[in-house]
Amino acid sequence: MSLGAPLPDRDRLIVLLGPPGAGKGTQAKRLAARYGIPQLSTGDMLREARAKGSELGKKVAAIMDAGQLVSDDIVIALIEERLNDGSTKVGAIFDGFPRTVAQAEALEAMLGRFGRKIDRAVLVDVSDDEVVRRNSGRRMCSTCQRTYHIEFAPPKVEGVCDVDGGPLIQRADDKPEKIQARLQAYHREPMVEYYEGKKMLRRVAGVGALDDVFERLATAVDAEG
Ligand code: AP5
Ligand code: MG
Repeated sequence: MSLGAPLPDRDRLIVLLGPPGAGKGTQAKRLAARYGIPQLSTGDMLREARAKGSELGKKVAAIMDAGQLVSDDIVIALIEERLNDGSTKVGAIFDGFPRTVAQAEALEAMLGRFGRKIDRAVLVDVSDDEVVRRNSGRRMCSTCQRTYHIEFAPPKVEGVCDVDGGPLIQRADDKPEKIQARLQAYHREPMVEYYEGKKMLRRVAGVGALDDVFERLATAVDAEG
């Protein structure tokens, strides 16, 4: 499937679920390009706030570096701002949000005000062992936040972003003990069960070549019913 023209025939409000390092961000960027809709990553928004040195950034820094979840009200406010700014009119890919039942309920309420609802929740299914492998080798562009992997998705030039030439860094929460903390935080929250209960969930195997995972995700997004 090509990263072709936008397909605005349907209100695509897609929740991407999956453990830390499942490839949500990597695939959300591709899906966003495919459907001509924005990627709303609360992790990226929070890292941007930190990079700017804002009050919000200072408030969440220690929690993020410890691999714990920041409070619901903070991330809900970030998403609400984006839902109100007109950029999500034909859809959005929610990447790393919602992560708690309270966030999921808030999202439904916010969308409900506009007569909209989540189209589909797709789980990028990856084992805990694979999560550790992926996060340990991940590198991130310090300017555009695009992610690479030293083994599975290396940049053309070591240490440099292919897209904007920014220096690649390792995230503070990609240290082994922080990866475990993030995994525990992920497994504590019943988001898969939540969307399963609403009959909205589709599972996609998150292992294999990036293009193959993308194909499976796009098929899940496009499927009717
Ligand atoms: P966030 O940034 O959302 O982190 P996360 O959930 O831990 O997920 P990651 O971004 O680490 O992984 P990903 O699934 O996007 O994988 P990626 O594509 O990078 O959140 C960070 C923190 O912010 C949280 O811990 C929390 O503190 C806070 N936060 C954010 N949202 C919140 C919320 N809603 N509520 C409360 N707190 C919140 O890929 C990973 C690696 O794998 C890369 O190196 C990539 O190149 C590689 N890779 C990808 N696909 C493949 C493949 N198919 N094969 C091999 N390698 C692959
Ligand atoms: Mg991510």
